[in-house]
Amino acid sequence: MAIDLLVRGVTLPTGGRVDIAVGEGKILGVEPAIDAEAGEILDYSGCLVSPPFVDPHFHMDATLSHGIPRVNRSGTLLEGIQLWGELKPLLTHEAVRQRALSYCDWAAAMGLLAIRTHVDVCDDRLIGIEALSQVRSEVRGYIDLQLVAFPQDGLYRSPNARDNLLRALDIGADVVGGIPHFERTMEEGRRSVSDLCGIASERGLMVDMHCDETDDPLSRHIEQLACESQRLGMHGMVTGSHLTSMHSMDNYYVSKLLPMIREAGVSVISNPLVNIIVQGQHDSYPKRRGLTRVPEMIKEGILVGWGQDCVLDPWYSLGSAEMLDVALMGLHLAQMTSESDMRKCFDMVTTENAKIMRLDDYGLEVGASASFVVLDAADPVEAIRLRPDRLLVVAKGKIIARRQRVRSELRIPGRPESVDRRRG
Ligand code: FE2
Repeated sequence: MAIDLLVRGVTLPTGGRVDIAVGEGKILGVEPAIDAEAGEILDYSGCLVSPPFVDPHFHMDATLSHGIPRVNRSGTLLEGIQLWGELKPLLTHEAVRQRALSYCDWAAAMGLLAIRTHVDVCDDRLIGIEALSQVRSEVRGYIDLQLVAFPQDGLYRSPNARDNLLRALDIGADVVGGIPHFERTMEEGRRSVSDLCGIASERGLMVDMHCDETDDPLSRHIEQLACESQRLGMHGMVTGSHLTSMHSMDNYYVSKLLPMIREAGVSVISNPLVNIIVQGQHDSYPKRRGLTRVPEMIKEGILVGWGQDCVLDPWYSLGSAEMLDVALMGLHLAQMTSESDMRKCFDMVTTENAKIMRLDDYGLEVGASASFVVLDAADPVEAIRLRPDRLLVVAKGKIIARRQRVRSELRIPGRPESVDRRRG
């Protein structure tokens, strides 16, 4: 097969310098030295190559809406939901589509090539699902977009949410969402988990719920989620997002819960940038971090990823499609500072998230889809430390972003050399 693109001298996340050959959208070879003709040959000697960044938890219907109609003053989750309620009637199909496409441009430039977005289905117009279904088709050539039918205001608490969710699935949402801790009672939350897992099981769909995104240690809907996954045989198909109440739970109860989550094949997504801002808001001091128990889950054998959650929306006033910011914040909050833990944090924004999203064809193996990113860093830990430029982004065999390597100079009087200050 003809080689369209040959990338030379790149370093794999696991170490080892290789050349990568690409043809007809696939990876044709990953070897220490490939001596062959190619349509284009690029030398990135010493730079890190990675499979694409993956964000398994995002809200693309809300992104880039910061300040419309106002900003979140308290920073709480509840004011964010209230503010989103004020914004929803103002949304139009075209406005949602345009903001989402702008965000996808940012993502593509950063090598973030797979995104799972929750999409609010509580507005009867289903503007988010309609607009983002269109976006999913428009970006298909470079970004894999999964849509979660998400009853933001509660499956039972919002009048038409359940019917709307079913309509959204009929339109083509990929994943069933939920928000049990926001239902009126613990009992209704528990019932919503069972109901939604049943709907997903019947349709052969994945489940990804906002689950226990609260500091209340008695919010235990993850227990029901694990139970339903086990009961319905949905191992590998179910994800609990946030699980921040686990931060505050009794240790004895958690010692029962962790094996249950693992046995049920439930994966977990933690969203450190937003959790550290939204959680602990009702505390004085000490203030809880509100992050779920990530290292303990990993040690238990549970699949865990880092998600971004929000960029410039009612809940979060920052963000830039930089998954290495997410990894950096998660690493700090979870105190994952050993060499192996830091490398794990890089995997959690790439390969682990890809497993959660059940992406086919992902990775740097021969035969996989030729999607990868070359970073101006030597290895995954340096990438998290520097959050460096993406020198090359290849999506499904095509170069979609390139950036010249920047070399800055530092001229200190009395010292002859100029050095690259970023690596100082
Ligand atoms: Fe979320």
